Amino acid sequence: MRIAVIGTGNIGGTLGTKWRAAGHDVVYGSRRAPGDGPGGAPVRAIGAALADAEVVVLAVPGSAVAELVAAHGGALAGKVVIDATNRMGAPEFDSRAAIKAASPDARYVRAFNTLGWENFADPVPSAALFFAADPEARAVADELIAAVGLEPAFVGDADATGTVDALLPLWFALVQQRGGNRRLALRVVQ
Ligand SMILES: NC(=O)c1ccc[n+]([C@@H]2O[C@H](COP(=O)([O-])OP(=O)(O)OC[C@H]3O[C@@H](n4cnc5c(N)ncnc54)[C@H](OP(=O)(O)O)[C@@H]3O)[C@@H](O)[C@H]2O)c1
Repeated sequence: MRIAVIGTGNIGGTLGTKWRAAGHDVVYGSRRAPGDGPGGAPVRAIGAALADAEVVVLAVPGSAVAELVAAHGGALAGKVVIDATNRMGAPEFDSRAAIKAASPDARYVRAFNTLGWENFADPVPSAALFFAADPEARAVADELIAAVGLEPAFVGDADATGTVDALLPLWFALVQQRGGNRRLALRVVQ
């Protein structure tokens, strides 16, 4: 897959590194000067990174998403957009509404926002990543979650974003109660 990862920090850099290692064509969209990014994938201006992508992953501060997608909404049309961002302290953690307003045809995925980045770099065996996705985007999300070494756990279409996000305070509480161990995840047992 041709993946544009927007943001080269903990989340963007970790996911981009894993997907490149798995054979995907990763480019970072960044405010930084062009060059090599985490894992060796190229860094480009955000517009240039979006141009050829099939999948876009937003890994910037939650407070930066609305302005970013408003500036690049046209480039998101028809693409799978994975929202890994959290707007801490806002009524909703996700940026689904801003993404939909900027690009009504984007295929929304809510994923990679309920576990610390350490779990993407080095997953606990059999740990699940809970996600929601528009129907046309589900298979892509499944594949990219599996590619980082987590079990994809689909909870519903994009309207189930709040169900995914309910796990975020749970994860923080478990980390706090277990001495700050952030390499901690949930598993589905059936
Ligand atoms: N840290 C975690 O464990 C974790 C877990 C789940 C979800 N999240 C969420 O994932 C997102 C990224 O978190 P992170 O830990 O990766 O943060 P981070 O390490 O600070 O990286 C964020 C990246 O976003 C870019 N950026 C910063 N300000 C920006 C702006 N105003 N406009 C556009 N791009 C900007 C920067 O990349 P460039 O310098 O290359 O532009 C920066 O490296 C956040 O929304 C966070 O809530 C984090």
